[in-house]
Amino acid sequence: MAVVVGCTLCVMAYISFSSAALCPDKTKWNYPVFWIGLPGNYGCEIYSANGRSTKANAVLECPYTTDRVYEPLTMFGHEINQESLTIATRMPASTGKSFHGCLVQSDNPISVVAINKYDGLIEGSQFRELKELGTEYYIMTANSNISSKPEFAIMAPFAGTKVSVRLPLVRPISVNYGGTTYTTGDWINDTLKDFQTMRIVTNKIDLTGSYVVSDKPVAVVAGDYETKVPIGGTVVSGHVEESMPPVQELGRDYIVAPLIHENYTCSLRILAVSNVTDVTGVTISNITDTVGFAVSIPFNEVYDYDFNCELQLIRANQDIMVGLFTQTGGIVGGKPAYFVLTPLEKAGNVAWFSVPDYHGLNLYFEHNYVNIIVKASDAGGIRVKNSRITSQFHQDIDVGGENYSAYSVRVWAFSIEAQWIHHTSGGKFVCYFEARYNDWRTYGYTLIPYQQGPDFLFWNADDHVATAKNITYNSNFNVKKFEATSNRQAKPFDASTNVVLTNTNRVVA
Ligand SMILES: *[C@@H]1O[C@H](CO)[C@@H](O)[C@H](O)[C@H]1NC(C)=O
Ligand SMILES: *[C@@H]1O[C@H](CO)[C@@H](O)[C@H](O)[C@H]1NC(C)=O
Ligand SMILES: *[C@@H]1O[C@H](CO)[C@@H](O)[C@H](O)[C@H]1NC(C)=O
Ligand SMILES: *[C@@H]1O[C@H](CO)[C@@H](O)[C@H](O)[C@H]1NC(C)=O
Ligand SMILES: *[C@@H]1O[C@H](CO)[C@@H](O)[C@H](O)[C@H]1NC(C)=O
Ligand SMILES: *[C@@H]1O[C@H](CO)[C@@H](O)[C@H](O)[C@H]1NC(C)=O
Ligand SMILES: *[C@@H]1O[C@H](CO)[C@@H](O)[C@H](O)[C@H]1NC(C)=O
Repeated sequence: MAVVVGCTLCVMAYISFSSAALCPDKTKWNYPVFWIGLPGNYGCEIYSANGRSTKANAVLECPYTTDRVYEPLTMFGHEINQESLTIATRMPASTGKSFHGCLVQSDNPISVVAINKYDGLIEGSQFRELKELGTEYYIMTANSNISSKPEFAIMAPFAGTKVSVRLPLVRPISVNYGGTTYTTGDWINDTLKDFQTMRIVTNKIDLTGSYVVSDKPVAVVAGDYETKVPIGGTVVSGHVEESMPPVQELGRDYIVAPLIHENYTCSLRILAVSNVTDVTGVTISNITDTVGFAVSIPFNEVYDYDFNCELQLIRANQDIMVGLFTQTGGIVGGKPAYFVLTPLEKAGNVAWFSVPDYHGLNLYFEHNYVNIIVKASDAGGIRVKNSRITSQFHQDIDVGGENYSAYSVRVWAFSIEAQWIHHTSGGKFVCYFEARYNDWRTYGYTLIPYQQGPDFLFWNADDHVATAKNITYNSNFNVKKFEATSNRQAKPFDASTNVVLTNTNRVVA
């Protein structure tokens, strides 16, 4: 299984480095996490949270940035680590390739968030583990009312990754990449070295619906490099960014729960990743209007919908991608936050994260919440740092005859302890972190929920196929045998046979 390509110094189980790469000399890191250096003129904060009760030995590396970074990060059980990176690690704000990929590796499962910060103007994104990355993505950039510099970036963990980007099929597009101008529906094809990033940045051109396909797993982040929003009489700029889910993480049913948003404005973007042309193709309803309304969305089109931030249900007859943009300050606007929503079908049973504190942000955000969406019948089993949540504020919404509850649970910023959400008996949930300062400043990100289960592997290092596997365990849960199968499987762990079939690559010990 452990195949090392190119770099003979590396003894890594899953990652190959080209011989030109700086070879990390650690052996056998089990939980690698990749993230993309965010663009911008300011330093970036990285918060890592240890998901286990034992010590995590982790390392952050940005081997090719001007300031070559190699930082050991040590976290005791359920602790967090904060790293401030210099501007030299940031991606340039223009279209093209650069070597700004960074890697976090760990011997425990950890979560990693990167945050842009400047005087309290903050936005962040949780990054996907290498084993959760895909080879097919759709892009969602910011909605046109706030958007100024729509952008996305692709990062290649593996050397010699062939990447093809198809620009949106549905609106006038013009992108200059490597001296050539590409327009609506054109393919931009390129090959990336490991740690290399490929960026597309535009001036007010909505890139939503761009399609990324690669021959090895890649990480993708999208958003807007410079949103412009009016705060009273002043226009304020800021970033919005989220990690894009690979297509196998999309679904049909989404609950939108912007619960702390009294006096907020909210907008949704719904991207059709296939034709949802049936008249009931997508139905949007909310807690006061369970009938809602229906829309059809042709393939690759985006449907924008402004609403009053009430609890919403979106159900489609095909997979869709849903982004939520929130702004504080009611009608005067405010710094937006961007969440790419997790469908109910992809809920998990454990998540952990850090709540950034004053030292990283220059500003102590007073209101920090985690929003947890769970079947009402499973809510009693949810614990946030071992506390029950059923006494917290929540709202219910009916999903096909089943009640789901959206809880808004206050959490406190703390420089050491990680936040930890789990369900006592495997009940599944989706969750979001959001923070608000006492004025118009706000930020947040989707928390990636994991499926708790035994350790196992998710891709074949020989061919870099990272999808579902048919995995057999021995009685100690060590992998006895595994085989690559199709891209989708759906069966839970079967303790009697020790055979795991999974439809998700989000699995941790
Ligand atoms: C932009 O704002 C206008 C006015 O508030 C609204 O009618 C429109 O739907 C918004 N567009 C998007 C894409 O949200
Ligand atoms: C670019 O990649 C796409 C998808 O792999 C392929 O269909 C297309 O033919 C390629 N174009 C060129 C010019 O190589
Ligand atoms: C919302 O706005 C109203 C009217 O301006 C104000 O009274 C109320 O305190 C605001 N609520 C919050 C949570 O800021
Ligand atoms: C969507 O429907 C249109 C019109 O029927 C058709 O031309 C197109 O090929 C379809 N696209 C996909 C991706 O199914
Ligand atoms: C949602 O709630 C508001 C009332 O708060 C209502 O005006 C609106 O029409 C409702 N329905 C949908 C589908 O948004
Ligand atoms: C959902 O919850 C509401 C309010 O708590 C209750 O009236 C309703 O009967 C519940 N529906 C189901 C299907 O459990
Ligand atoms: C997994 O392996 C078993 C035994 O070889 C086989 O019967 C089953 O069809 C496989 N499942 C998949 C999804 O490939």
